[in-house]
Amino acid sequence: MNDLLEVRALNKRYPVGPGRRALHAVEAASFTIRRGESLGLVGESGSGKSTLARILARLIDATDGSIVFAGEELSTLPAARVARTPWRARIQMVLQDPGDSLNPRCTAFQAIAEPMLRLGTATGPSSRAGGSVAERVTELARQVGLPEALLGRFPHQLSGGQKARVGIARALAPGPELLILDEPTSALDVSVQATILHLLDRLRKELGISYLFVSHDLNVVRLMCERILVMYLGRIAEIGPTEAVLDAPLHPYTQALVAAIPGRRRANMPHLELPGEPMSPIDPDPNTCRFHGRCPKAQALCVRSMPLLREHAPGHQAACHVS
Ligand SMILES: Nc1ncnc2c1ncn2[C@@H]1O[C@H](COP(=O)(O)OP(=O)(O)OP(=O)(O)O)[C@@H](O)[C@H]1O
Ligand SMILES: [Mg+2]
Repeated sequence: MNDLLEVRALNKRYPVGPGRRALHAVEAASFTIRRGESLGLVGESGSGKSTLARILARLIDATDGSIVFAGEELSTLPAARVARTPWRARIQMVLQDPGDSLNPRCTAFQAIAEPMLRLGTATGPSSRAGGSVAERVTELARQVGLPEALLGRFPHQLSGGQKARVGIARALAPGPELLILDEPTSALDVSVQATILHLLDRLRKELGISYLFVSHDLNVVRLMCERILVMYLGRIAEIGPTEAVLDAPLHPYTQALVAAIPGRRRANMPHLELPGEPMSPIDPDPNTCRFHGRCPKAQALCVRSMPLLREHAPGHQAACHVS
C-alpha cells in the first residue's frame, strides 16, 4: 500500500453561542496522502485549511472520523496524548511564523536539538544519522542551509529566512514521515520565499517524506505539489493531480479561483468575482451545496441536494452536480 495517510469522513465542529449551535469547520473530509507525495491544500480564508492541518498534525482532535497513518488508526488517540508517543516524531508541523514559534531564550542549536531530546529520537534506533545530538544538529543545519556559525545565535539575531530554516530543521529533527506546512512562507519577504520553497521541495525529494502543503497561493501550489485539494466552507470541492485541477478545473469554485490567478503576477488568493455572499458555516443546511449562492452554474438540484465527490477522471474528483 502506497498511502501514508488515509482520512475518512473527518468532521470538526466547534460549539458556538448559546444552545447547540455548531460551526462546521471541516465536514466529511475523505482523502489520502501517498508516501513521498506533496498534497496542496487551497481555499479561501475560513475554508477550514488550518483546522484540517492541525487535526492531521494531531494538535487538535476531530469531532469524529478516521485518520489512518501507516496502517494504524490514529483518531482514537487524543491529541493531548500524542505528544508522549512515538507518533509525535512521525508527523511534524512547520508553523506559519518561524519568529513566533521559536523560543526567544533558545539558541538555534537548542531549538533544533529540543524535539530530539524530548522525543528521544536523537540516538535511538530511529535516528537516521546515529551519533550524538550535536552531530545530528550540525547535519540538519547543513541540510537546511543554515551556516554552522549561526547555531549559537538567538532568534532575534537571525533573519526571517534563517529563522525559517531553524523552524524547518526543528520539524525535520525527529525524522518525520509526514510534514504539515501551514502557509510556511507567508510571513517571509517575497525575495526569501522562493529560496525557502526550493529548499522545502529539495528536502522532500531527498528525504522521501510526504507534505501536506497549505497555501493561499495557487502558483506556489503548482510548483510544490503533485496533487491539489480545494476546500470550500469546510468541504472538499475538488481533488486531483495539480495539472488537471489547475488547467482543467471541474468545480465552478475551482474554476473561479483559477480564472482569478493574475497572469504573471503572484497569485495570493485573489478577490473572486462571484455573486452573492458565502453561506454561514454555522449549522449549514446539510441538503444544500455550500457554494450554490455564489455559483454561476447553480441549478434547482443544488439547493435541495448536497453534491458528493464524484470521480471524473482517474484520481480527479469534484463535488458538483453540474460539472
Ligand atoms: N477554535 C475555534 N473555535 C471556533 N471556531 C473556529 C476555531 N478555529 C477555527 N474556527 C472557525 O473554523 C473555520 C475554519 O477556520 P480555519 O482557520 O481552519 O480556516 P483557514 O482556511 O485556515 O483560513 P485562513 O486562510 O484565514 O488561514 C472558520 O470559520 C473559523 O472561524
Ligand atoms: Mg489558516
